[in-house]
Formats: sequence, C-alpha cells, structure tokens
Amino acid sequence: MKATILGLGYYLPGKVLTNKDLERIVDTDDAWIVERSGIRERHILAEDESCSLMAIEAARRALQDANLDAADLDLIIVGTVTGDMLFPATACLVQAELGAFNAAAFDLGAGCTGFIYALTVAEKFLLASEMRHILVVGAEAVSKVLDYTDRSTCVLFGDGAGAAVLGRSDGDDGIITSCLGADGRGAKDLYMPAGGSAIPATPESVAQRLHYLRMNGTEIFKFATKTMTSVSDRLINQAGLTYRDIDLFIPHQANIRIIKSAAKRMKMPMDKVFVNVDRVGNTSAGSIPVALAEAYEQGRLHKDDLIMMVAFGTGLTYGGVILRWGE
Ligand code: UT7
Repeated sequence: MKATILGLGYYLPGKVLTNKDLERIVDTDDAWIVERSGIRERHILAEDESCSLMAIEAARRALQDANLDAADLDLIIVGTVTGDMLFPATACLVQAELGAFNAAAFDLGAGCTGFIYALTVAEKFLLASEMRHILVVGAEAVSKVLDYTDRSTCVLFGDGAGAAVLGRSDGDDGIITSCLGADGRGAKDLYMPAGGSAIPATPESVAQRLHYLRMNGTEIFKFATKTMTSVSDRLINQAGLTYRDIDLFIPHQANIRIIKSAAKRMKMPMDKVFVNVDRVGNTSAGSIPVALAEAYEQGRLHKDDLIMMVAFGTGLTYGGVILRWGE
C-alpha cells in the first residue's frame, strides 16, 4: 500500500507586486532582481488578509478535485511559519472553516520545507494508522514578516498556498520514497528574532525591527546548492532510479540560479524542471505545493510519471519526495 495524492489545489492572492513596484519602495532595480534571483513579480496578501485565507481556499480546491467532503478528512496538517497567530494552529482555523470536524489538526513549522515534511508525516499516518484521508497544506504569508526597508530580503518572497488531499493506493501510484533532514546550527541564517518566547513583543523589539525575517543570503545559497543535490542523490539511490527516470523535477522555488545549478548537476534538461519563481517568488512552504498544483493544472502530470520534489528552508531544514502520479 502507498499514500497517494487524490486532489490538488492552490491559491495566490490577487494583488501582484512587480519589481517595478519594489523600485518605488526600496533601493533596488528590476535588472538586479531578475539577474540574481529570476523573480519578476510576486503575489501579496491585502492588509486585512492572512495565511488561513489562502490555506482554506487551496484546501477547498483540493477537496473538490479529490471529489471528497470535508467530513471525510481524518487529519489536517498545515506547513507554515507565518500562521495567523502563534496559537492556535492555523490548521484548526482551516478545520473550522471547512467544517472538517472529524479531523485532528496541527501545524508543522519547517519553513520552506514545510510541505515536504507535512507530506512525509501524512504518509506515515496513512500507512500506520486507521486514517484514510489527510489534507496537507503548505501556506505562507511571508509578506507580513518582510522588512520592506531591507532590499536583500523583501524582493525575494511572496505569499501563496497549495494543498493536497492524500489517501491510500493499492496500485503503483503514490509516494515511493522520501527523506527529511535538518541542521539546527544554521538556525539563525534565516529567522525572525522576536515574537516568540525568547523575545516577546515590546515597544523596544518593534523599534529594533526584530519582528521581521532576517537572512544570511550567502550562507543559505551555499546550503541550498549543496542540499538540493545531496537530497536528490539520496532519493534517487533510495528508489533505485536514475535521474533519467524522473519525468518532472519540482524544486523549491527560491532562486533560478539555485534551480539551474541543481538541474545542471543532475544533467536534467530544463524542460523537465518546473519553474514559476519568476511569477510567484519564494512562497516558502507554499512553494512546492503551488508548483505541483500549477503543473497539474497545466497538464504536465501524466499517469505513471515520476515526480521528484526537493526543498530547503529555515531550521535549517531540507527534504524531498519521489512519487508516481496516478490517474
Ligand atoms: O527558502 C530559502 C530562502 N532563501 C534563499 O533561498 C536565499 C538564498 N540566497 C540567494 O538567493 C542570494 O544569496 C541572494 C539573491 C539573496 C543575493 O544574491 P547574491 O548574488 O548572493 O548577492 P549578494 O548578497 O552578494 O549582494 C551583492 C550586492 C551587494 O552590494 P555590494 O555589497 O556588493 O555593494 C548587495 O548590497 O547586491 C546588493 N543587493 C542589492 N542590490 C539591488 C542586495 N540586494 C539587492 C537588491 N537590489 N534587492
């Protein structure tokens, strides 16, 4: 038996922030952003919108695609580090809004690797418990914690959510292999200093701009290029495959240079690599599921295709999954 994807959905906020828009906010220019990251625009939540709104909409679409009701769900996992509140879990807000009252619900904080972590956890629940249907969401409202005076971070991220409904399969389709990892020594290479129990919100913490994302871009870049290939190698070895067997590679959409360097190392032609970083930027935990759902919408997933997804993020965390697509 395998855990397989029964339905997919995604949601991107309506408001689009282009590089030209950013030129008016911070000392940057379109050419620099495109050349260094490949990003041209990103979607941004409105002031009165939050993470759960995107998670709920993506979830509704995934349930509809799976032809299931909210009452069929046994568990909801939301991969996010920018949930509506520190507590309760955004997964509980999603549960209430969907009316999925048979489902347990929790958030999983693995940053940009959030969806891969959540997918892997969901797979284990499906195979080792009575659970039949699990909703896995990757949703991130990064714009809410971006410092729009810091040009080294604010140009890179966007908001978005993607969702998958997982169920059991007796066929060939489903998750074939996965791997997860972390290196907490790099915790402060990408973090938000305040707002938790270490530095609770005070007028001073706000004045010192500690409630914004901070990143050591160079360190993350090195970590990313290294782990993209090491995770991929591990997945390929675990599955007994070669890179030529992979039909679609869906890397975390952080920077086109990281994606191209991984593809080159794997000798993977770019037409087998899914890229939307130019249109959505880095949506953290939303990145992989939005890309997967867009690939599905564009008709790029065919029966029996082997799909490899690899991500890295705050933590520092990393992980990947290879799955065989069903109908
Ligand atoms: O999901 C994980 C999230 N994070 C990542 O994936 C980030 C990984 N890192 C990266 O993608 C890259 O390191 C960046 C895109 C963040 C930066 O690219 P880079 O080629 O490493 O540039 P850099 O940091 O070495 O900066 C080069 C120059 C600096 O100026 P000086 O010191 O050479 O005069 C920066 O101040 O570019 C400057 N700069 C900018 N210029 C215009 C930094 N940000 C900007 C900007 N616009 N937005």
